[in-house]
Amino acid sequence: MSEHKNVYPVRDSIAASAWADKDKYAAMYQQSMDDPESFWAEQAKRLDWIKAPTKIKNTSFARDNVDIRWFEDGELNVSANCLDRHLEKRGDQTAIIWEGDNPNDSKHITYRELYERTNQLANGLKSLGVKKGDTVTLYMPMIPEAAMAMLACARIGAVHSVVFGGFSPDAVAQRVIGADSKLVITADESVRGGKHVPLKENVDSALTRDGTDVCKNVLVVKRTGGDIDWKEGRDIWFDELVDKQSTECQAETMNAEDPLFILYTSGSTGAPKGLKHTTGGYLTYAAMTHQYVFDYQEGEVYWCTADVGWVTGHSYIVYGPLANGATTLMFEGVPSYPSHGRMGEVVDKHQVNILYTAPTAVRALMAHGDNVMDSSKRDSLRLLGSVGEPINPEAWEWFYRVIGNEKCPIVDTWWQTETGGIMIAPLPGATDLKPGSATTPFFGVNPALVDNEGHKLEGETEGNLVILDSWPGQARSIWGDHERFVQTYFSTYDGMYFTGDGCRRDEDGYYWITGRVDDVLNVSGHRMGTAEIESSLVAHSAVAEAAVVGFPHDIKGQGIYIYVTLNDGIDPTDELKKELTQWVRKDIGPIASPDVIQWAPGLPKTRSGKIMRRILRKIAANECDGLGDTSTLADPSVVDELIEHRANQ
Ligand code: PRX
Repeated sequence: MSEHKNVYPVRDSIAASAWADKDKYAAMYQQSMDDPESFWAEQAKRLDWIKAPTKIKNTSFARDNVDIRWFEDGELNVSANCLDRHLEKRGDQTAIIWEGDNPNDSKHITYRELYERTNQLANGLKSLGVKKGDTVTLYMPMIPEAAMAMLACARIGAVHSVVFGGFSPDAVAQRVIGADSKLVITADESVRGGKHVPLKENVDSALTRDGTDVCKNVLVVKRTGGDIDWKEGRDIWFDELVDKQSTECQAETMNAEDPLFILYTSGSTGAPKGLKHTTGGYLTYAAMTHQYVFDYQEGEVYWCTADVGWVTGHSYIVYGPLANGATTLMFEGVPSYPSHGRMGEVVDKHQVNILYTAPTAVRALMAHGDNVMDSSKRDSLRLLGSVGEPINPEAWEWFYRVIGNEKCPIVDTWWQTETGGIMIAPLPGATDLKPGSATTPFFGVNPALVDNEGHKLEGETEGNLVILDSWPGQARSIWGDHERFVQTYFSTYDGMYFTGDGCRRDEDGYYWITGRVDDVLNVSGHRMGTAEIESSLVAHSAVAEAAVVGFPHDIKGQGIYIYVTLNDGIDPTDELKKELTQWVRKDIGPIASPDVIQWAPGLPKTRSGKIMRRILRKIAANECDGLGDTSTLADPSVVDELIEHRANQ
């Protein structure tokens, strides 16, 4: 990413009322580094504890003993922190503004209503036999019931595993099995951009797979009333179960290190892994980052456009905002429906003050020109945020100028499913902004850049981004596979958490994320493993071998470029390309749709048989002049062949 010269200094008007100005940020950051124990002991007080923690930090990143515990003798309940404690002061305040896919559909849910419905659902779950420590899979539209389901699980100590509603039945099945879920909560259909997605049908299909018989019940929200199949004895209507329950449900006492949720994400190898997040540290961190990074002020309307199926939705639609007593907006639809002006129209309709979205959404709007925002004024906006992938300076400037009317700071927030909350980001009252840079670390976050041997690089430099010590929001393990957790994150560089990202640090100590350095793609902010897509393709009877790489894409950030070697005797037709595209969509989900498929009679391999992805990435990016050394290839002529038949994008 090119360095950008513009600097946007902190606005006095923002600094005057912000939670942190420059001096406060510097002092608090220093304290968080010098004495994490007392820093986080103080921060933990933002939550209501049943038993306050006396042991604050007990963490080890050593390869032979990765063990992460925060507040380990504390006890609390997450749903009580997000609901009960707000009732007295803000029972009648809106907790969730729901904006439907159809612009005529919206509703406000107060903290009291959310509390009561969540308690009813929690009682309903108990009546189905769901107990503390059980796992529940959620496969839901962006409707308030999704937040209620998460909170109801938290209330009774069940562990939720949310599966993004765009994933396929196979993905649902894998996750039900992986987490051993006895219950799935879903809806008849979801509605996005005017189209209906058959969630219940997908669950039905998922639950025919071997190993899914652990799942005993499916709880179904009636969202559209569309036609669905019904399995007596297994399927239950959400409202029928919930309406009859009491609105009081005693919140379970949870240890700070009891699991709160599992969230699956893609890595460079193997099937997606279920990251395990726990209770006390996660909520402390989600709440604190939400307050400081978005400078959330009492009474403001905050909108994060993510889906609850991703970690951003967990931490910054549900847990962080609700722990802080905020009003959080939940949007069912897509920014382009019914027209490209929708995002701005939603901002005006609900007088949104803080808008947190993704670079891909900004770039998609930008492609339509400045007039695309003419249908709204967006005067209510005070702050903008970006997440999910590097934001290119041009998109940053457009976001600032056109969406934010040149008056809203942009917080570019770098973090990951694994980190639980924001790690590197500006604080609006404290950090001068540079378009394209996520700027500086949050309190308690100690980043470093290392070379490939793990040597720390100082000053202005570029390298692999690692984090040197634990922070409370961090994932504790991979569900059921701690060894994989250690291998994936702590074995590349001993004693350090490896993020998988490359990064540059400039002369002011600002961090500029350059993207993944492993075989993980980031397509429209969605994270995908190349290995997952490859293994889907080779399962097709026509395919002998496949290699997947990312290539630069104007809107999506990265597109998916696939090289396919067919089995002998199979014709490389356009029909087959379509079939393979459908195959991957069906196997993984529409987000994994290939952008380009190129037939590859051979793939560039070393003599030991390793595919040289570096070369495939260059060809996909049309940088065929800079292929570097190809002399180690078993058959260099393969490369000329691929260049000659390079697919048009
Ligand atoms: O490569 C980084 C990129 O997204 C990855 C994490 O993806 P996921 O776990 O799905 O979480 C996304 C939402 C937190 C990172 O390893 N990424 C995320 N935010 C940024 C980013 N890259 C650059 N700048 C960001 N602000």
